[in-house]
Parts: sequence; structure tokens; C-alpha cells
Amino acid sequence: MPSIRTALTLLSASAAVIAAPAMKKRANDVYAQRAIEHYNIMTGNGSYNSEYFSPENVPYHSVETLMVEAPDHGHESVSETYSFWIWLEAVNGKLTGDYSGVETAWSYLEKHMIPDSKNQPGNSKYNPSSPATYAAEHDDIDGYPSELIFQNGIVGEDPIAKELSQAYGNWDIYAMHWIIDGDNWYGYGQQGDGKSKPSFINTFQRGPSESTWKTVPHPCWEAMKWGGRNGFLDLFTVDNSYAKQWRYTAAPDADARAIQAAYFAWLWADEDGVNLSSVASNAAKLGDYLRYAQYDKYFKKIGNCVGYQQCSAGSGKNSAHYLISWYFAWGGGLQGDWAWRIGSSHTHTGYQSPLAAWILSTQSAFKPKSATGAKDWATSMERQLELFRWLQTPEGCIAGGATNSWQGSYAKPSSEITTFYGMWYDWQPVYHDPPSNNWTGMQGWGMERVCSLYYLSGDERAGLVCQNWAKWVKETTRVSNGEVIHATNLGWDGNPDEWKSSNFKKSNLNASLHGTVTSEGCDLGSIASIVKALMWVSMKDGDDEGIQLAVDVMDAIENYKDDLGYAITEARADYDKFGGEVYVPSGWTGKNAQGANIKSGVTFIDIRPKYKEDPDWAQVEDFLNGGNPPEFTYHRFWGQTEIMVANGIISIYGLDSYGGKGGNNNNHNNNNNNNSSGNKTGTCPTSITRQGYKCCSKNCQVVYTDADGDWGVENGNWCGCGGGEICPSAITNQGYKCCSTCGTVWYQDADGDWGVENGDWCGMPLDC
Ligand SMILES: *[C@@H]1O[C@H](CO)[C@@H](O)[C@H](O)[C@H]1NC(C)=O
Ligand SMILES: *[C@@H]1O[C@H](CO)[C@@H](O)[C@H](O)[C@H]1NC(C)=O
Ligand SMILES: *[C@@H]1O[C@H](CO)[C@@H](O)[C@H](O)[C@H]1NC(C)=O
Ligand SMILES: *[C@@H]1O[C@H](CO)[C@@H](O)[C@H](O)[C@H]1NC(C)=O
Ligand SMILES: *[C@@H]1O[C@H](CO)[C@@H](O)[C@H](O)[C@H]1NC(C)=O
Ligand SMILES: *[C@@H]1O[C@H](CO)[C@@H](O)[C@H](O)[C@H]1NC(C)=O
Ligand SMILES: *[C@@H]1O[C@H](CO)[C@@H](O)[C@H](O)[C@H]1NC(C)=O
Repeated sequence: MPSIRTALTLLSASAAVIAAPAMKKRANDVYAQRAIEHYNIMTGNGSYNSEYFSPENVPYHSVETLMVEAPDHGHESVSETYSFWIWLEAVNGKLTGDYSGVETAWSYLEKHMIPDSKNQPGNSKYNPSSPATYAAEHDDIDGYPSELIFQNGIVGEDPIAKELSQAYGNWDIYAMHWIIDGDNWYGYGQQGDGKSKPSFINTFQRGPSESTWKTVPHPCWEAMKWGGRNGFLDLFTVDNSYAKQWRYTAAPDADARAIQAAYFAWLWADEDGVNLSSVASNAAKLGDYLRYAQYDKYFKKIGNCVGYQQCSAGSGKNSAHYLISWYFAWGGGLQGDWAWRIGSSHTHTGYQSPLAAWILSTQSAFKPKSATGAKDWATSMERQLELFRWLQTPEGCIAGGATNSWQGSYAKPSSEITTFYGMWYDWQPVYHDPPSNNWTGMQGWGMERVCSLYYLSGDERAGLVCQNWAKWVKETTRVSNGEVIHATNLGWDGNPDEWKSSNFKKSNLNASLHGTVTSEGCDLGSIASIVKALMWVSMKDGDDEGIQLAVDVMDAIENYKDDLGYAITEARADYDKFGGEVYVPSGWTGKNAQGANIKSGVTFIDIRPKYKEDPDWAQVEDFLNGGNPPEFTYHRFWGQTEIMVANGIISIYGLDSYGGKGGNNNNHNNNNNNNSSGNKTGTCPTSITRQGYKCCSKNCQVVYTDADGDWGVENGNWCGCGGGEICPSAITNQGYKCCSTCGTVWYQDADGDWGVENGDWCGMPLDC
């Protein structure tokens, strides 16, 4: 240790000016913390090593395996699940600055849900002027198998196949199949190998009365290894002879949701200086193919389409209703020698996404490559908004949908049924058991896409629909003693008025159309969707009451927290249907890959014997033997994500400052530590450098603080801002203090730079 008088060197520190960051700080308010913690639980801190994902990174429909609703096993996954995964990553990206998960999630969406070319061979043999063979749908399941009608002139032409193949250089379809078997529980594997996972399967195919409980799960790749003589094909259609074939069905609202979530990820990343254009262009491509959802099932002309032989086959785009219908499907021969495609005539308001239509038609990063893709989505946005307005009840909630094919067979409805562009009102589009629009979740799903459109684009028509709907939400939703109570089921009466576009802004119409609340309760995922929609419209209109309700609901949802997220115990009286009959025509016999015999009279559990090995089977069995309904506490990926995203949006858009109870600490957006006297000196802690970040320059400005320490921003990157070693530990280890400010260096040695304060040596701060 040198004597103070032997100090040799005189150096002075010069202060460098740090550029003010253009990006927002990482959020650390209570809503962000909730969302980030929830993300970390669901994804295992981003490792995807958690109960929500399979070892192959399939996001499960639910953590729990014994689960029957639309999927008939919890470890199935659906395109909906993947679309929510993109949302989860988008919000986590905005809250933490790490957007890499968005690309990861999209890559698995593509890998698991979009069949690659070896899984959809023969598309180049597809003939767009003869897309498919007509078969009627039947209201009753015993109308199946349905006869294929081989007759020219019934089915119209497919006007988009050619431009899609030109734009993307091949004939494959870039769309998600709707359901996969994550653990290969059914045993079909891929391409009939019986073992690969995840595995493309399908369930429903037999009309509106076929609930999940009546489905016969079967492989998408029909190699006739299982099932009966013709595989499973002759359960669905009557053909002259049956060829080995593959077929996939899209659930278009999920593809649209994936596009919406990718858009928010892209937008937020762009604000933070991160370029997600590769995800954007994949989303645009998905949107291009998603146009198949805009077509009548058999490409017939839209409007007053009665009689499968009388109603004209479409030409050009007169078979487009421009709405997002319930499905579209495509298939072909295993040998790659033929292929077919269909759209869907049935539309539901809960499936619409005028936001996706707006993204694909106005946002250049998301512009579809095909010649008319963007234009079609522009038309679609208008048409979708009109549909919502047409179906808005005087109460504000939104009625079912419209179809171009009454009863799925181009039948003629009764004369009091009103129309929208010549399509008929249907209070329960597509499925009847239970009626598709009873479930309140459809309100949140559809309207969240109308109200986020209003928020982003300011479209007044979207605003009008949302404002009327928000009133209904406020009247039917409350928080009482920490419990959330809202409409869980709705009943429907009457018909909407005949639609005229010029009616859009008129009020007091639809006097005979009514939606009434038939049951109240708490469905966490649904209410989170609903309050998300409420947030967008309330933010746009500066409606404090709406924001307050949304924040109150999310605060109350904290009361439903458990180790895996948020959940409520559900008594499942409907699980008596495990013992219910699955319709199989008499005489049909076959065996599935679980080894079960399928024949007339079998039950749901008979054809799924592996459920008897499930850890939760005992309580279902007890119920079937006369005990109480079994109770389950489900963690559904989609519902968890709705909650995470809703909390995230409160943080990202600063809604807690409207008075939410939790949001009293650090505010989300603004630099609340931007005064210069608060600037930090010293290096930064290893808890920050360990994560791959650098220390900021000296005198950095703290823009965000978390458990790891203080963060600044330099050149668009996060950096650690002070809080680590202030001066060399080699000096403090000898019992000296750090100097309180930068000053003259009186001495240098291997331990570092020495200064003098109050007559003693001190360690010169490292960042001088
Ligand atoms: C995630 O990180 C937290 C906090 O560091 C830790 O407690 C938890 O065990 C981690 N979980 C997983 C699955 O890695
Ligand atoms: C984002 O990256 C793409 C290609 O990777 C590039 O073409 C585009 O210009 C970039 N956008 C911005 C805003 O940097
Ligand atoms: C569903 O809606 C129908 C039609 O209004 C109604 O009769 C029925 O009670 C509703 N069911 C439930 C569970 O809400
Ligand atoms: C009902 O439908 C008409 C047109 O069919 C529309 O103008 C009206 O605004 C809708 N809703 C209400 C609540 O009046
Ligand atoms: C400092 O932060 C406040 C909000 O906390 C903001 O209004 C102000 O503009 C900031 N000042 C500077 C110079 O960045
Ligand atoms: C504090 O940091 C800001 C921004 O990084 C910088 O402009 C300012 O000069 C610093 N103040 C001092 C006293 O170093
Ligand atoms: C500036 O920041 C420091 C440290 O965070 C704080 O103690 C001080 O009160 C702030 N001063 C002003 C005027 O905001």
C-alpha cells in the first residue's frame, strides 16, 4: 500500500453522454409480474419443459389427460392451442424484451400442425375446376355415411388455387390441421406407422348432432390399417370403392388468431427495435391460404342457394361469402394421384376476425403474396363487420351466424328466417349438442377481434358494435366478494332484421332478436377473453368504467390461482356420457389402434379402453356406477393464456393507472427514474451479465429494475446499470472504501486505481 504522498498519477474522468433509449423499458408492475410468472410456470421458464408441453414441445390442450370437451383427450392439441401459444410468446416478448419465443412457437406450429409435403402428396394433381364431390350433411347422425354424388355441374370452381401455387411455387396448402394426438394416445402415429408423435388425427365428420361423445377418432392418413374393410372411410361417406387417402380439416378461427398474435408480436417487437419480419411473412402466407374459409363448401354461388342441383355452381369469386367459416378441408390419394378441396357454407360470429382481415389487407409486412389475397381480405373485413352488426341484439350480445347451405344440404328454410347477403340466419351454426352459440366464450372470441380492430384502426363501425356490446358486458359481469360472476350460457330468440348495409348506423332494429343469460357462473378463460375485448374498446374511448371493470375482474382472478396457473374445480355431470353410445351403423365392424372393437352399440369408453388406465378414471367409473359427478380442476392452455394475455395488456397499455388495486407501484411505461441525480455508477451485477447482457457505460440511467438489478438501455439493447462492484474488489478486500465520486487517480497498481478522500485511500469507481 503506497503512502498517500507517493501518489504519482493525475488522471481525470470525462463524462460520456448516454443516448436516451428509443425503446420502452421492461415492465415490472404487478400485472407484468403476474403475466411473466404465469408464462414461466406454463413454459418452464421458456424451456418448454413443463406439464403444459410434451417432450416434443406439443402444447397440450390441458395439463390433465382425462378431459373431454371438443378434444376428447387432454393431451391432444388443437390449432387453437398453437394460436394461443403465439399470443403467450408475444406478450412475454413485450414484457421481457425477449421475443425469441415467438419464432420458436411459430416453428412448432408449422412443424406439428401444417402437414409437410410428404404428408399431403398429390396436390399438383388437384383440378381447380372440379374441386370435390358433393355429399349432403345430415342433421341426424344416423344419416351417415352420406352418399357421394358423382354428377357434373354441382360443384363450382376454386378461384384461388392457381394464384396460390403461382405465389408460393407449389400446390401444397399452408394451413393448420385442427387436431393432433400429442402423445399418440390413440396409436395411429404418422403415415400409419403407429408410433410417431404427435400424430394427425380427426374426430367429428358426421353433422351437427355429432357431439364429441359420438365421435370415432381416426387417422388423417387413411392407409386402411385400422378400422374396417375400408378403414374408417365408410363411416362417413358412401363411395363405389374406397381409395387409401389423406385428409385434413382447418379450424380457421385458430389460423386467424395465430395471425393476430403474430401481428401484436411483430408490432411490439418493432417498437422495441426487434425485427420479426420472418414471422410476419409466414403469417401472411397462412392468411393467403386461409381464404379457403371464405368459400361455400362446394364453391356454389352465395345467396338464396336452394337445391344442390338447382343452385348454381360458382364461377370466379361468386362463391365467396368473405366470412371466416367453420372449416375448410383438403385431401387426396396416398399415391399422390388425386386431390380435393372444400370450403364451408356455415359461419359463426364467434369465429370471425375482422382484425386479421385488416392486418392482411393493410399492413405491408403481412401482405399476402398472391395476386388477390390482400384485396379479398379487404372485402372480408367489411363483410365481417356487417355480420356483427346484423347479429347484434338490442341487449348488445351477438347472435349465432349465417349459412349458405341450410341443413348442409342446400335445403330451403322456413320463410321467417331472415338473410344476410342471401345467407340464412342460424342461431346455432354447425353444431347443436350443445348449441354452438350458448357458450359465452363465443362472445369474447369474436368481439375481442372487433374491439382490437377498433383500438388499432379506429374504424367507427367496429366501435359502434363494441360500444353496444360493452354495455351488455358491464350489465352481465360483476365482481363480488372477490368472486367473478358473469354470463356463462346464453339463450336465443327471434330473428334479426333482414340485412341492408345502409342499416349499419341505424338503431332500434332487430326488435325481435334477443339473447338472454340462461346461466351465470365463472369460466376463467371465457371471462378473460371478454374483458380483453372490453379493454380495447374502453381504452380507445377512454371509458374508465369499462377499464375499471376489466382490471377488477383480473384482480379477482388472482383469487383462483394455484400451482399451475388459475383454475376452478368443475363437477362434470356430462361425464356420464363416457357410458353413452357412439353411433355405428349396424353391420359395420372394425378395430382401432387401441385394440377396441368398433361395432353397433359400443360406448365412448368401449372404443377408448386406454382411459381405464388414466389416474383419474376411478372417479369417472364411480360416477357411472351411481356415484357423484367427478370433479376436475382443469388447466386448459387456451384459458391460461387468455388470463396471461389480459394481465399483460393491462401492463403494456398502462391500464392499472386507471385505479386498479394492484397497480400502485412502479408505473409501466414512463421512465420514473430519469433524473440525473439518480444515475448509477459502478459496474453491473453478475446476475445481469450472466444472462448475456453487458454492463452499461458509466453514469447510466436506470430505466427498469427487477430482482436481477438495475437496467439501462444503450444502442437499443438492455444493459446492466450499476449495482455491481463500484470499485475493484481487490481494493475493498483490503479494507478500503470506494471513493464516493470519480476524481483524481493518485496511484495505480495491480489492484486498480486509487483516489483519496477524507485523508485516506479509496478505490476509484470502475466506471470513471
Ligand atoms: C424457473 O425459475 C424459477 C426462479 O428462478 C425457479 O424457481 C423454477 O424452479 C424454474 N422452473 C423451471 C421449470 O425451470
Ligand atoms: C427486417 O428484416 C428483413 C429481412 O430479414 C428486412 O428485409 C427488413 O428490411 C427488416 N426490417 C426492418 C424494419 O429492419
Ligand atoms: C341454449 O339456447 C337455447 C335456445 O335459446 C335454450 O333453449 C337453452 O336453454 C340454452 N341452453 C343453455 C344451457 O343455456
Ligand atoms: C340489428 O340489425 C340491424 C340491421 O339488420 C342493424 O342496423 C341494427 O343496428 C342491429 N342492432 C341493433 C341493436 O339494433
Ligand atoms: C422523466 O420521466 C417523466 C415521467 O416519469 C417524464 O414525464 C419526463 O418527460 C421524463 N424526462 C425526461 C427528460 O426524459
Ligand atoms: C444521467 O444519465 C443521462 C442519460 O443517460 C445523461 O444524459 C446524464 O448526463 C447523466 N447525468 C449525469 C450527472 O451523469
Ligand atoms: C431522482 O432519482 C433519485 C434516485 O432514484 C431519487 O432519490 C430522487 O428523488 C429523484 N429526484 C427527482 C427530482 O425526481
